[in-house]
Amino acid sequence: MDTLQRTLVLLKPDALERGIVGEIITRFERVGAKMIGMKLLVSEKDTALQHYTEDLARRRGERVRELMVAMLTSGPIVAIAFEGIEIVEVVRKMIGSTEPKSAAPGTIRGDYAHVSFKHADSLNVGIFNLVHASGSPEEAETEIDVWFKPEELVAFT
Ligand code: TYD
Repeated sequence: MDTLQRTLVLLKPDALERGIVGEIITRFERVGAKMIGMKLLVSEKDTALQHYTEDLARRRGERVRELMVAMLTSGPIVAIAFEGIEIVEVVRKMIGSTEPKSAAPGTIRGDYAHVSFKHADSLNVGIFNLVHASGSPEEAETEIDVWFKPEELVAFT
């Protein structure tokens, strides 16, 4: 296994609306994750569909995929590519569980949000959990390709 990995983080529209982009990025800087790409954008629907793939529909249902695509395209987002040692797992640990209600204190979702699946489902909306991070090194490479052109990534040592 290659210990040097890349991962893709999205700060979703709720993070921008809340005005906590800086605070979230600070947390990643603190652990020494190396930023190799960052951009602010409003996602096209096609791009959101490339990010939230058929795999999400298989795992969580087509409805969740549709809600997440609607949510991701509802406002500006920040896409960041990080590099670091086993950074995929480190960043997943830092963001916490998918459901903010269950996310541990100290994690981004646990510290900045609290809503439950039950509540989101009752409103028929996607869960607002502030941030996305790749689940595996393979997924990270695919997702970095979705959001960044190779020349938008900065190589430096
Ligand atoms: P998933 O890939 O399972 O979680 P994670 O983002 O932690 O990797 O799900 C993708 C997103 O779908 C998740 O961030 C929030 C949303 N989602 C809902 O809105 N409702 C749900 O019931 C589930 C399971 C996920």
